[in-house]
Amino acid sequence: MSNDTASLEQRPSILIVDDESVNLSVFGQCLMTDYAVLVATSGVKALEIANNTSLDLILLDIMMPGMDGYEVIKALKSNPKTQDIPVIFVTALTSELDETFGFSLGAADYLYKPCNLSILSVRVNLQIELKKARERLQNQNIHLETELQKRMQEHQLIQSELMQSEKLAAIGQLAAGIAHEINNPLGFIFSNLNSFQEYALEIFDLIDQYDNQLSKCRPQPDCIEKLQALKQQKDWNFLREDIADLISESKEGLTRVRNIVRAFNQFTDDNGQNWQQYDIKQSLDTTLKVFVCSQNIQCRIRKEYGDTPEIECIPQLMNQVFLSLLTNAWQAVGESGEIIIRTGIDDKQIWVEIADDGPGINPNHMHRLFEPFFTTRPIGKGIGLGLSTANNIVRAHHGRIDVSSQIGEGASFKIWLPIHQTHD
Ligand SMILES: Nc1ncnc2c1ncn2[C@@H]1O[C@H](COP(=O)(O)OP(=O)(O)O)[C@@H](O)[C@H]1O
Ligand SMILES: [Mg+2]
Repeated sequence: MSNDTASLEQRPSILIVDDESVNLSVFGQCLMTDYAVLVATSGVKALEIANNTSLDLILLDIMMPGMDGYEVIKALKSNPKTQDIPVIFVTALTSELDETFGFSLGAADYLYKPCNLSILSVRVNLQIELKKARERLQNQNIHLETELQKRMQEHQLIQSELMQSEKLAAIGQLAAGIAHEINNPLGFIFSNLNSFQEYALEIFDLIDQYDNQLSKCRPQPDCIEKLQALKQQKDWNFLREDIADLISESKEGLTRVRNIVRAFNQFTDDNGQNWQQYDIKQSLDTTLKVFVCSQNIQCRIRKEYGDTPEIECIPQLMNQVFLSLLTNAWQAVGESGEIIIRTGIDDKQIWVEIADDGPGINPNHMHRLFEPFFTTRPIGKGIGLGLSTANNIVRAHHGRIDVSSQIGEGASFKIWLPIHQTHD
């Protein structure tokens, strides 16, 4: 039995205050079967007991030597510790005026002496029940208020998460729009450059032919000298080599831009917003491309993909999970570290591990990692939504994320995902 239940089962306690011991004894005997009865023969003693004991009711005589009942009730009502204890005046003062005055001081009830003991018992019981009901209401109020606070906090959290995801969606749309716009000019620059490369080769060939013919038709010696001087002046050999280099370098640069655009297109592909059978390694590679293109990544990235079957997932959300984990790993390792990406299968689940050899995670932070807004980064550098959102996405896929870390030895986030989904 808990302490709470024990205290609930305790009998209500009543303090009887009267300067005449016969009254104390009669009232006490009447009430002691149902209540824990305490007695006081003076106002001062009564206040002392009320201050130090938890009371449920006070039966208070008015006419007492020294401190009378009126003074006692005033003192009780002005003390926050005792002001809620109901007080019933039990007195020989039977005028209406006395009774009204008694109520005006905060009495809960007023009984005339000598009083009928069964009426006393009914009135006492009524006050005790009223006090219990008041306390229940107060407790319910406190409970409701904490519940309300909790709901308001949850609401605020959802609001901020919504704002954040709207922002991310807007950035995604923007990126997709830009990628689309870049795609067009990229296409014709590429094709022009290809033609230019062919034309340049034709021009080189033409000049070679000229040289050839010239050597056969014995022109004036000064003509040959002039042409050779011109070639030297224009640095023909260098031009010929460099034009070829410039074209292939430009083509390489353009290929890179095209890969970035393709990666962004895949990353934000509208088709990826639905449940589908998908190779998670493809999601990893698309995300890796975007990740490597969009940040200045210096650290090493090692891929150790094991064989995994296609799984049922929403690819775009998976991309978001991998991007969050890769970004965290990259932020942890800095320039000189290493990120390792592994995949594998275990029974009906596949796993993806993103591990780094960064500084690791403080053990005190481990249980808070998935809390929304938990971050150890300085203001402006992190908002603490990466892992909480990733965790929500993985859980929506009926999976889980395991974290392991040793201080100084890096961290590993292992995502487990079922191959098949049971949609509710
Ligand atoms: N690979 C990691 N190595 C060390 N700490 C990490 C790693 N990944 C996450 N953390 C810790 O978890 C916190 C929460 O990460 P996250 O939810 O992505 O928010 P944010 O990156 O905005 O801080 C980070 O601030 C960091 O303290
Ligand atoms: Mg993060």
